[in-house]
Amino acid sequence: MSTSTIVRTPSAAPRSAEEIAAILENPGFGRVFTDNMVTIRWTEAEGWHDAQLVPYAPIPMDPATNFIHYGQSIFEGLKAYRQPDGSIATFRPEANAARFARSAARLAMPALPEELFLESLRVLVEQDSTYVPDDQEKSLYLRPFMFSTEVGLGVRPANEYLYVLIASPAGAYFPRGVKPVSVWLSTEYVRAAPGGTGEAKCAGNYAASLIAQAQAAAQGCDQVVWLDAHEHRWVEEMGGMNLYFVYGSGDDARIVTPELTGSLLPGVTRDSLLSVAKDLGYGSGEGRISIDDWREGNASGELTEVFACGTAAVITPVGSVKSADHSWTVGDGGSGAVTMRLRQALLDIQTGVTPDVHGWLHTLVPAQA
Ligand code: COI
Repeated sequence: MSTSTIVRTPSAAPRSAEEIAAILENPGFGRVFTDNMVTIRWTEAEGWHDAQLVPYAPIPMDPATNFIHYGQSIFEGLKAYRQPDGSIATFRPEANAARFARSAARLAMPALPEELFLESLRVLVEQDSTYVPDDQEKSLYLRPFMFSTEVGLGVRPANEYLYVLIASPAGAYFPRGVKPVSVWLSTEYVRAAPGGTGEAKCAGNYAASLIAQAQAAAQGCDQVVWLDAHEHRWVEEMGGMNLYFVYGSGDDARIVTPELTGSLLPGVTRDSLLSVAKDLGYGSGEGRISIDDWREGNASGELTEVFACGTAAVITPVGSVKSADHSWTVGDGGSGAVTMRLRQALLDIQTGVTPDVHGWLHTLVPAQA
């Protein structure tokens, strides 16, 4: 289908400017949604069709809808940022479109063409542009997702799917803001195993993580850190975010993130920071980090900071670690200088404060003349 065919029937009763301003004061994360959404259907017979912008509303479904039972459901997360000239841009949406297609392939779902993914972002953000905050710590979070809609209980790839894009004004992801989090090293549960769905952004990965997150909370920790499924030794991710380890300090700092072994989610923020670190004069790379490396590097002072990164929370310092056998404070337990410098540098690129030397920004709504 052609990308010009998203038919617009927006809400006839959008929120007033005053109501939106009140929401943007303290949006939290994922609590309030804009007035509209985009939906696009796929069937075996017609492919992608029936693309519409419609008022945000519940999606009625038959109790035997396939995805409720068997979980063919994938999503993405990206943000729209107000730029200094008033235009609205998003960050590396092509990377999200590509990952969405890879997630779809892993779950035997149809790929949404990149141009349709991008056009859905453009049409919704243009329609609901007044929800894009003018504040570096706030943005409009965009949540594209797709699930199977065929009715029936046969276990096989469905022959009908619905793509939906919704948007939600977002402030800090963690209610406490950018404060160091404590982490629990999970040896009982794994997030993903080789050959599994760890690289895909599918709903089931998040469902499977919740019990370990609850265990972390029972241990008095904010977040769970996942280890590899085979040896329970190699650090993979934190909750739904990638991790970075900072070695050294000042201009000699070097950041290392666990390599993509097939069971990690290839984060867009993770990938971007490899370049942003180099822009700032730090070393950066991928590697394997074991829990012993982490504990010993921390004890010797070689490892100075650790942080988690993702679209939703941007960058969050890790302040302390607890496992069944050990617990330790990361560096001085605070928000490290390298961590916070990288966070600011990334936000400055996303919000147009510094030049976009990598060509990462994608304008969704041009500045008003
Ligand atoms: C992100 O870090 O952007 C995530 O994917 C978390 C999201 C599931 C809220």
